Amino acid sequence: MKLWGQILWTLLSVPRGRRGVLQGWAFNSWKTYSSLTGPLSATGMVNHWTRVFEERGIPEARESSEYIVAHVLGAKTFQSLKPALWTKPLTPQQLECIQELCGRRLQRLQLQDRIRIIHLDITSEGCCTHLLPWSPLDLVVSNPPYIFRKDMEQLAPEICSYEDLVALDGGDEGMDIITHILTLAPQLLNASGSIFLEVDPRHPELVSSWLQSHPDLHLSLVGVREDFCGRPRFLHVQKSAP
Ligand SMILES: C[S@@+](CC[C@H](N)C(=O)[O-])C[C@H]1O[C@@H](n2cnc3c(N)ncnc32)[C@H](O)[C@@H]1O
Repeated sequence: MKLWGQILWTLLSVPRGRRGVLQGWAFNSWKTYSSLTGPLSATGMVNHWTRVFEERGIPEARESSEYIVAHVLGAKTFQSLKPALWTKPLTPQQLECIQELCGRRLQRLQLQDRIRIIHLDITSEGCCTHLLPWSPLDLVVSNPPYIFRKDMEQLAPEICSYEDLVALDGGDEGMDIITHILTLAPQLLNASGSIFLEVDPRHPELVSSWLQSHPDLHLSLVGVREDFCGRPRFLHVQKSAP
Protein backbone atom coordinates (compact mmCIF):
# COMPACT_ATOMS: atom_id res chain seq x y z
CA MET A 1 0.00 0.00 0.00
CA LYS A 2 2.77 2.38 0.88
CA LEU A 3 4.46 1.46 -2.32
CA TRP A 4 1.35 2.62 -4.13
CA GLY A 5 1.39 5.85 -2.22
CA GLN A 6 4.92 6.37 -3.46
CA ILE A 7 4.02 5.44 -7.02
CA LEU A 8 1.06 7.80 -7.02
CA TRP A 9 3.25 10.53 -5.62
CA THR A 10 5.79 9.90 -8.35
CA LEU A 11 3.05 9.88 -10.96
CA LEU A 12 1.62 13.12 -9.68
CA SER A 13 5.03 14.70 -9.39
CA VAL A 14 6.10 14.29 -13.00
CA PRO A 15 7.33 17.68 -14.19
CA ARG A 16 4.86 19.79 -16.12
CA GLY A 17 7.03 19.63 -19.21
CA ARG A 18 6.00 16.02 -19.76
CA ARG A 19 2.30 16.56 -19.33
CA GLY A 20 1.78 17.52 -22.96
CA VAL A 21 2.99 14.12 -24.08
CA LEU A 22 0.78 12.33 -21.60
CA GLN A 23 -2.26 14.39 -22.38
CA GLY A 24 -1.71 13.55 -26.00
CA TRP A 25 -1.72 9.90 -25.08
CA ALA A 26 -4.84 10.38 -22.96
CA PHE A 27 -6.64 12.07 -25.84
CA ASN A 28 -5.82 9.25 -28.24
CA SER A 29 -6.93 6.55 -25.88
CA TRP A 30 -10.10 8.40 -24.87
CA LYS A 31 -11.70 6.45 -27.68
CA THR A 32 -11.21 3.27 -25.65
CA TYR A 33 -14.01 4.42 -23.32
CA SER A 34 -16.45 4.84 -26.18
CA SER A 35 -16.51 1.06 -26.56
CA LEU A 36 -17.82 0.72 -22.98
CA THR A 37 -21.58 0.66 -22.64
CA GLY A 38 -23.57 2.63 -20.05
CA PRO A 39 -22.41 5.40 -17.73
CA LEU A 40 -18.76 5.28 -16.76
CA SER A 41 -18.61 4.43 -13.06
CA ALA A 42 -15.73 3.85 -10.66
CA THR A 43 -16.27 0.09 -10.83
CA GLY A 44 -16.45 0.24 -14.62
CA MET A 45 -13.18 2.15 -14.75
CA VAL A 46 -11.46 -0.27 -12.39
CA ASN A 47 -12.58 -3.21 -14.53
CA HIS A 48 -11.61 -1.47 -17.74
CA TRP A 49 -8.14 -0.49 -16.57
CA THR A 50 -7.56 -3.86 -14.91
CA ARG A 51 -8.08 -5.45 -18.32
CA VAL A 52 -5.81 -2.94 -20.05
CA PHE A 53 -3.08 -3.38 -17.44
CA GLU A 54 -3.33 -7.17 -17.64
CA GLU A 55 -3.04 -7.05 -21.43
CA ARG A 56 0.02 -4.82 -21.14
CA GLY A 57 1.71 -6.98 -18.48
CA ILE A 58 1.47 -4.37 -15.71
CA PRO A 59 1.94 -6.03 -12.32
CA GLU A 60 -0.87 -5.85 -9.74
CA ALA A 61 -3.33 -4.82 -12.44
CA ARG A 62 -6.46 -4.69 -10.28
CA GLU A 63 -4.72 -3.10 -7.28
CA SER A 64 -3.19 -0.49 -9.57
CA SER A 65 -6.50 0.54 -11.11
CA GLU A 66 -8.31 0.46 -7.77
CA TYR A 67 -5.76 2.76 -6.13
CA ILE A 68 -5.85 5.20 -9.01
CA VAL A 69 -9.66 5.38 -9.17
CA ALA A 70 -9.91 5.65 -5.36
CA HIS A 71 -7.30 8.42 -5.35
CA VAL A 72 -9.20 10.42 -7.98
CA LEU A 73 -12.36 10.06 -5.89
CA GLY A 74 -10.52 11.31 -2.79
CA ALA A 75 -10.13 7.99 -0.97
CA LYS A 76 -7.11 5.96 0.02
CA THR A 77 -8.49 2.58 -1.06
CA PHE A 78 -11.27 1.52 -3.38
CA GLN A 79 -12.82 -0.53 -0.58
CA SER A 80 -13.06 2.52 1.67
CA LEU A 81 -15.18 4.42 -0.89
CA LYS A 82 -18.86 4.71 -0.02
CA PRO A 83 -20.59 1.93 -2.04
CA ALA A 84 -22.82 4.54 -3.69
CA LEU A 85 -19.69 5.96 -5.35
CA TRP A 86 -18.81 2.63 -6.95
CA THR A 87 -21.67 2.94 -9.42
CA LYS A 88 -22.19 6.71 -9.60
CA PRO A 89 -21.34 8.10 -13.06
CA LEU A 90 -17.95 9.82 -13.07
CA THR A 91 -17.52 13.40 -14.20
CA PRO A 92 -15.48 14.17 -17.34
CA GLN A 93 -12.78 15.69 -15.09
CA GLN A 94 -12.57 12.53 -12.99
CA LEU A 95 -12.39 10.39 -16.12
CA GLU A 96 -9.64 12.55 -17.52
CA CYS A 97 -7.66 12.34 -14.31
CA ILE A 98 -8.03 8.53 -14.17
CA GLN A 99 -6.98 8.37 -17.79
CA GLU A 100 -3.88 10.41 -17.18
CA LEU A 101 -2.77 8.49 -14.08
CA CYS A 102 -3.45 5.12 -15.72
CA GLY A 103 -1.47 6.30 -18.73
CA ARG A 104 1.48 6.98 -16.47
CA ARG A 105 1.09 3.59 -14.81
CA LEU A 106 1.27 2.07 -18.29
CA GLN A 107 4.68 3.64 -18.64
CA ARG A 108 5.70 1.48 -15.63
CA LEU A 109 7.94 4.33 -14.43
CA GLN A 110 10.56 2.98 -16.85
CA LEU A 111 12.31 1.33 -13.92
CA GLN A 112 11.92 -2.29 -14.87
CA ASP A 113 15.27 -2.52 -16.64
CA ARG A 114 17.16 -0.47 -14.06
CA ILE A 115 16.46 -2.37 -10.86
CA ARG A 116 18.27 -5.40 -9.46
CA ILE A 117 16.40 -7.13 -6.63
CA ILE A 118 18.47 -8.97 -4.02
CA HIS A 119 16.41 -11.00 -1.54
CA LEU A 120 18.12 -10.55 1.78
CA ASP A 121 17.30 -10.49 5.49
CA ILE A 122 19.30 -7.53 6.70
CA THR A 123 19.35 -8.93 10.23
CA SER A 124 21.05 -12.11 9.04
CA GLU A 125 24.69 -12.78 9.76
CA GLY A 126 26.97 -12.01 6.84
CA CYS A 127 24.33 -10.10 4.89
CA CYS A 128 26.86 -7.30 4.40
CA THR A 129 28.98 -9.68 2.32
CA HIS A 130 26.18 -9.95 -0.24
CA LEU A 131 25.84 -6.18 -0.46
CA LEU A 132 29.50 -5.14 -0.45
CA PRO A 133 29.98 -5.91 -4.17
CA TRP A 134 27.47 -3.08 -4.85
CA SER A 135 29.30 -0.54 -2.72
CA PRO A 136 30.24 2.26 -2.42
CA LEU A 137 26.64 3.46 -2.54
CA ASP A 138 25.50 7.07 -2.74
CA LEU A 139 22.16 6.38 -1.07
CA VAL A 140 20.27 3.93 1.07
CA VAL A 141 16.50 4.50 0.94
CA SER A 142 14.22 2.47 3.15
CA ASN A 143 10.63 2.22 4.28
CA PRO A 144 11.40 -0.27 7.06
CA PRO A 145 8.97 -1.84 9.54
CA TYR A 146 8.76 0.97 12.12
CA ILE A 147 5.48 0.57 14.04
CA PHE A 148 5.91 0.44 17.82
CA ARG A 149 4.81 -3.02 19.01
CA LYS A 150 2.28 -1.52 21.40
CA ASP A 151 0.66 0.37 18.48
CA MET A 152 0.22 -2.72 16.33
CA GLU A 153 -3.24 -3.43 17.73
CA GLN A 154 -4.48 0.02 16.74
CA LEU A 155 -3.64 -0.27 13.06
CA ALA A 156 -6.45 0.36 10.61
CA PRO A 157 -8.21 -2.88 9.60
CA GLU A 158 -7.35 -2.45 5.92
CA ILE A 159 -3.65 -2.27 6.83
CA CYS A 160 -3.76 -5.34 9.12
CA SER A 161 -5.63 -7.46 6.60
CA TYR A 162 -3.49 -6.40 3.62
CA GLU A 163 0.05 -6.33 4.99
CA ASP A 164 2.12 -9.09 6.51
CA LEU A 165 2.46 -7.91 10.12
CA VAL A 166 6.19 -8.70 10.03
CA ALA A 167 6.47 -5.93 7.44
CA LEU A 168 5.13 -3.41 9.95
CA ASP A 169 6.22 -4.45 13.45
CA GLY A 170 9.42 -2.59 14.30
CA GLY A 171 9.81 -3.98 17.83
CA ASP A 172 9.29 -2.24 21.17
CA GLU A 173 10.21 1.25 19.96
CA GLY A 174 9.92 0.57 16.24
CA MET A 175 13.71 0.69 16.01
CA ASP A 176 14.67 -2.97 15.46
CA ILE A 177 15.17 -2.82 11.69
CA ILE A 178 16.09 0.88 11.67
CA THR A 179 19.11 0.21 13.90
CA HIS A 180 20.16 -2.69 11.67
CA ILE A 181 20.07 -0.38 8.65
CA LEU A 182 22.02 2.32 10.47
CA THR A 183 24.63 -0.20 11.56
CA LEU A 184 25.00 -1.72 8.12
CA ALA A 185 24.83 1.38 5.93
CA PRO A 186 28.16 3.03 6.85
CA GLN A 187 29.99 -0.03 5.50
CA LEU A 188 28.21 0.37 2.17
CA LEU A 189 27.96 4.13 1.73
CA ASN A 190 30.55 6.37 0.14
CA ALA A 191 32.34 8.94 2.34
CA SER A 192 29.40 11.37 2.40
CA GLY A 193 26.59 8.99 1.48
CA SER A 194 23.04 9.41 2.75
CA ILE A 195 20.33 7.28 4.26
CA PHE A 196 16.68 8.26 3.79
CA LEU A 197 14.15 6.55 6.06
CA GLU A 198 10.40 6.68 6.44
CA VAL A 199 9.65 6.44 10.17
CA ASP A 200 7.18 7.18 12.97
CA PRO A 201 6.93 10.81 14.26
CA ARG A 202 8.64 9.71 17.49
CA HIS A 203 11.67 8.45 15.62
CA PRO A 204 13.52 11.67 14.79
CA GLU A 205 14.34 12.06 18.48
CA LEU A 206 14.95 8.35 19.08
CA VAL A 207 17.19 7.98 16.02
CA SER A 208 19.10 11.15 16.86
CA SER A 209 19.91 9.98 20.39
CA TRP A 210 20.70 6.45 19.16
CA LEU A 211 23.19 7.91 16.66
CA GLN A 212 24.78 10.06 19.35
CA SER A 213 25.35 6.93 21.43
CA HIS A 214 26.99 5.22 18.42
CA PRO A 215 29.63 7.76 17.31
CA ASP A 216 31.69 4.95 15.73
CA LEU A 217 29.14 4.84 12.89
CA HIS A 218 29.97 8.43 11.83
CA LEU A 219 26.34 9.12 11.01
CA SER A 220 24.33 12.23 11.86
CA LEU A 221 20.70 13.15 11.46
CA VAL A 222 20.91 16.12 9.10
CA GLY A 223 17.28 16.57 8.07
CA VAL A 224 13.70 15.74 8.99
CA ARG A 225 10.82 16.16 6.54
CA GLU A 226 7.13 16.16 7.33
CA ASP A 227 4.46 14.10 5.64
CA PHE A 228 1.35 15.68 4.11
CA CYS A 229 -0.24 15.77 7.58
CA GLY A 230 2.67 17.78 8.97
CA ARG A 231 4.14 14.89 10.98
CA PRO A 232 7.94 14.52 11.08
CA ARG A 233 8.29 11.20 9.24
CA PHE A 234 11.23 11.29 6.85
CA LEU A 235 14.80 11.24 8.04
CA HIS A 236 17.94 12.21 6.21
CA VAL A 237 20.97 10.66 7.88
CA GLN A 238 24.41 11.40 6.46
CA LYS A 239 27.81 9.82 6.81
CA SER A 240 30.80 12.00 7.55
CA ALA A 241 34.46 11.23 7.33
CA PRO A 242 35.91 9.55 10.48
C1 LIG B 1 6.73 -1.10 5.83
S1 LIG B 1 7.10 -2.41 4.70
C2 LIG B 1 7.50 -1.48 3.29
C3 LIG B 1 7.35 -2.26 2.06
C4 LIG B 1 7.58 -1.48 0.77
N1 LIG B 1 8.71 -0.60 0.82
C5 LIG B 1 6.36 -0.66 0.46
O1 LIG B 1 6.45 0.56 0.47
O2 LIG B 1 5.31 -1.23 0.20
C6 LIG B 1 8.61 -2.95 5.35
C7 LIG B 1 9.32 -3.94 4.45
O3 LIG B 1 10.62 -4.17 4.98
C8 LIG B 1 11.07 -5.41 4.55
N2 LIG B 1 11.73 -6.08 5.67
C9 LIG B 1 11.27 -6.33 6.91
N3 LIG B 1 12.19 -6.94 7.65
C10 LIG B 1 13.27 -7.10 6.86
C11 LIG B 1 14.55 -7.68 7.04
N4 LIG B 1 14.91 -8.22 8.20
N5 LIG B 1 15.39 -7.68 5.99
C12 LIG B 1 15.04 -7.12 4.80
N6 LIG B 1 13.86 -6.54 4.57
C13 LIG B 1 12.98 -6.54 5.58
C14 LIG B 1 9.89 -6.22 4.08
O4 LIG B 1 9.96 -6.34 2.67
C15 LIG B 1 8.73 -5.34 4.42
O5 LIG B 1 7.73 -5.47 3.49
